[in-house]
Amino acid sequence: MKKVRILDTTLRDGEQSPGVSLNVQEKLEIARQLARLNVDVIEAGFAVASLGDALAVKTIAQEVKGPIISSLARSKEKDIDIAWESVRFSEQPAIHTFIATSDIHLKYKLRMSREQALEQAVWAVKRARSYVDEVEFSAEDATRSDWDYLCQVYSAVIKAGARILNVPDTVGYTTPEEMKALIQHLYKHTDGIEKVIVSIHCHNDLGLAVSNSLSAMLGGAGQIECTINGIGERAGNASLEEIVMGLHVRKDFYQAETGINYSEIYRTSRLVSQLTGMLVQPNKAVVGQNAFAHESGIHQDGVLKEKSTYEIMDAKLIGREEKVLVLGKHSGRHAFNKKLEELGYHLSEEELNQAFERFKDLADQKKQIAEADIQFIAADEATRT
Ligand code: KIV
Ligand code: ZN
Repeated sequence: MKKVRILDTTLRDGEQSPGVSLNVQEKLEIARQLARLNVDVIEAGFAVASLGDALAVKTIAQEVKGPIISSLARSKEKDIDIAWESVRFSEQPAIHTFIATSDIHLKYKLRMSREQALEQAVWAVKRARSYVDEVEFSAEDATRSDWDYLCQVYSAVIKAGARILNVPDTVGYTTPEEMKALIQHLYKHTDGIEKVIVSIHCHNDLGLAVSNSLSAMLGGAGQIECTINGIGERAGNASLEEIVMGLHVRKDFYQAETGINYSEIYRTSRLVSQLTGMLVQPNKAVVGQNAFAHESGIHQDGVLKEKSTYEIMDAKLIGREEKVLVLGKHSGRHAFNKKLEELGYHLSEEELNQAFERFKDLADQKKQIAEADIQFIAADEATRT
């Protein structure tokens, strides 16, 4: 089994979600929870962005033990120096420096030539390496960059001392097949790549961030960058819980695993949602409210007999309640009777028939049936006879 490193960037890219701003205490609380989740790397912030960011990275570096603590930095002296000042008290500090490599970014954003960007990247990696061993380099907008130029840049930064090569799909543009081909191309044409860890960082603009990350892993990537609940710039980043459970549930296919402590997944998701104010959509895979809920009679009957009929992962494994049967208009008698029994009603066959009919009538009129509705029907039927 291949071991895949998980870099969590909830506190950096995740915090770049529109409308989200976490204070130092909230970031520390999330970082502590990420350590319990057992992520390999916490990207704790972008230290140069503000005094608050620098303080948060520094506090996390001082207080949180276990994972590597990293700060993002552009390929600039001030960024790298402040990043170092912020992470230096960690037991395992890291600096993640980046520069864009696509022609679109070079021309319109950086106003630099390809040669200038390459030179700047090499300079930045050397400066970061003068402080720490664990230096990650990202070629921003890698997936829209010229592949030969990308190999040139990555070869040069490896020579300069980069330990991790990150391949960001900055605007969520690539596809799973293209991503795998790109990683394979890098492995063939980048000097020294066998000595470093190839990392992947996908955004979700086309809803492909998780797929693209897993494809990159199949192409050879050894680190996946992601966020809790998939929060992040625009449509967000690849979601940690989906990647981790995808690898776990289909380890027969992926032949890879992470070191994540599964039982902390749900708690972490709830904490991040609560502190960022970003609600998790009900049908979100793994952590959404409905991810383990069954409404239709056929499904409810199946899971009551054997839960693997309609569940591919164990809710308890990720720290959630097991088997949630939601009573609605699609529910069957079996689930309805089970609910009655849980509520302490043991109706005769005749009473059950009447009660079930009244429940179906009600479910046709209401979106959600409350426990009190069921109790009322059950008690009424029981006293009639
Ligand atoms: O999406 C991106 O390109 C990034 C880099 C800075 C890694 O977040
Ligand atoms: Zn990003």
